[in-house]
Amino acid sequence: MSASSTPARDFVSILDLSTDELGRLLDLAAQLKTERPRADQAPTANALHRAHVAMVFEKPSLRTRSTFEIAVHELGGHTLQLPHQFAVGDREPLEDVARNLERWVKALVVRTYEHATVMALGAAAPALHVINALSDQEHPCQALADMLTLRERWGTCRGRTLAYVGDGNNVARSLAHAAPQLGMSIHLASPAGYQLDAQVIEEAGHRARDGAQVSSFEDPREAVTGVDAVYTDVWASMGQEQEADERRRVFRPFQVNGALMEVAAPDALFMHCLPAHRGEEVTADVMGSPASLVFDQAENRLHTQKALLLMLLS
Ligand code: CP
Ligand code: NVA
Repeated sequence: MSASSTPARDFVSILDLSTDELGRLLDLAAQLKTERPRADQAPTANALHRAHVAMVFEKPSLRTRSTFEIAVHELGGHTLQLPHQFAVGDREPLEDVARNLERWVKALVVRTYEHATVMALGAAAPALHVINALSDQEHPCQALADMLTLRERWGTCRGRTLAYVGDGNNVARSLAHAAPQLGMSIHLASPAGYQLDAQVIEEAGHRARDGAQVSSFEDPREAVTGVDAVYTDVWASMGQEQEADERRRVFRPFQVNGALMEVAAPDALFMHCLPAHRGEEVTADVMGSPASLVFDQAENRLHTQKALLLMLLS
């Protein structure tokens, strides 16, 4: 292994996949989902040939950590859990961490506060596949699962509209990257000062297919009127706990509740990446309603991450 070999593909952003690759990844994930009951007899049960995948999480995770661990095992690989301080660069520089790991493992799944950390790890170790398991900027693995979940319900996302109501955060950014590429319009409703950058909206618009639109709103009712699905996320992300009180005040009009769901299309779906704060960004009745896809989204984290590992590593 040497730095001069062809660089391993990273997955830091949805934009690291072409539109065709995104579609193929979702097809593969759907296939893996149907094959999962075959367990050891599944065609991909040994696809990773005992390769190691390291994981380092600088902040908490239930879904992402569990599903990556299960995904690697079900594809015949091994995981190596690293203590979180190795994502910070306290004990040794991040670049050295990455250059050590690339000699032992095929991939590094990393959750960090700063997006720059994911980029630095990828740049330092060209032979290592670096996978973004959430940074302050993007949560691309979440968006993969969300797109599969909607496709399962509708057959295709083409011609549909998703409204994202809340903070213009990592989850919003990755949804804005993914949805328009599948021909689905996205309405982004956030309070002033908490919206996604204009540059992100513009870039998402450039990737749009089949007439999909990317639009920003300050009024959540306007954004949700007539849409096919409504998505929200916590008002204060991990690392923003000290802003929680202020954000509760600012975001209160952006709560997804029964009254807001009423203005969406009659059979509109509800989505949330989880963890959720019932009574804040979403009411308990909407979370628990038949329209809620939240646990389907969580399940699909597994299938889409298996597909991602196969596409990157095999
Ligand atoms: N949705 C999500 O990424 O959950 P975790 O933070 O539990 O991984
Ligand atoms: N925006 C949230 C997502 C958690 C999965 C956060 O970053 O904390």
